Amino acid sequence: MRHLLSAADLSLSEITEILDLAEEMSTVQDRPVKKLPALRGRTVVNLFFEDSTRTRSSFEIAGKWLSADVINVSAKGSSMSKGESLRDTVLTVAAMGVDALVIRHHASGAPWQASHWIDAHVLNAGDGTHEHPTQALLDAFTLRRHFRSADPSSAERNGQASDFTGKTIAIVGDLTHSRVARSNVLLLQTLGAEVVLVAPPTLMPSGVDSWPAANTTDFDEVLGACDAVMMLRVQRERMSGGYFPSAREYTIGYGLTRARLGALRPGAAICHPGPMNRGLEISADAADAANSLILDQVAAGVSIRMSVLYQILGGAEESVASPVREAAVR
Ligand code: NCD
Repeated sequence: MRHLLSAADLSLSEITEILDLAEEMSTVQDRPVKKLPALRGRTVVNLFFEDSTRTRSSFEIAGKWLSADVINVSAKGSSMSKGESLRDTVLTVAAMGVDALVIRHHASGAPWQASHWIDAHVLNAGDGTHEHPTQALLDAFTLRRHFRSADPSSAERNGQASDFTGKTIAIVGDLTHSRVARSNVLLLQTLGAEVVLVAPPTLMPSGVDSWPAANTTDFDEVLGACDAVMMLRVQRERMSGGYFPSAREYTIGYGLTRARLGALRPGAAICHPGPMNRGLEISADAADAANSLILDQVAAGVSIRMSVLYQILGGAEESVASPVREAAVR
């Protein structure tokens, strides 16, 4: 893998390899000394033109736990706020000799463009309303664990590919502005899940009928049929007009309220990429429920980003079998 720009670029076997390696990487999280030598001498720059808590810090932690040198550059506090173009900023950072550039940008396609300007590896950490592939990977990692723990024999019985076969996953809310939804639809399709998109008509993306997913404007209709619900943040910062009459009406139609929590299938997983608007798209009861995987998603973010950084920078020619085991015997 040279870059990670879109979830659509990943085959089933590549996704499985990333998830399996992330499982190994996750063992580092429980160690007193959280350091593997795998990316010693490699330099990763996190170039963030949009705010971020989870994605930026987990890319940073992932790089550091693999012993890479990680530098964070954000729009505020850099020459980007002096009017420098994206191209000049990217070329400037690359000229210092970085190995990988992790980019978040408000323009859809910015990481793809950057990958054509420089030789370094480029990882998309969220581009406008387009894609967020590592989020979809960490969601798949979290759900795969959840499905396996609910039915431990399923992995051996059916093989890796079928962890998601026969599973229905609803993605609910501000679909129009969600790069998380786009990457998840693509990845979950490859994994073989059934995806149902749920949104008010005003937040249903144009052309949604051509997406590899069903869609409905009636959340209550699908509640009892889902193995997982992924709630999306209402992205007010990307909204120019009124997409719904009021916050209260949005919650009544599309919030995961306490009442809807009771209508979910027992054990159905609750996911949210964060940051959450508690009380708007998700109630506190749902966010903090026993079957909420929201903090598991955050933890998975580090393991997935370690896995992806290693796959991209760790030397594809060498065995990627087990950097964790290799480190353990050193
Ligand atoms: C998402 C993002 O920034 O795309 N958050 C994240 O990366 N965890 C979703 C959002 O901002 O709502």
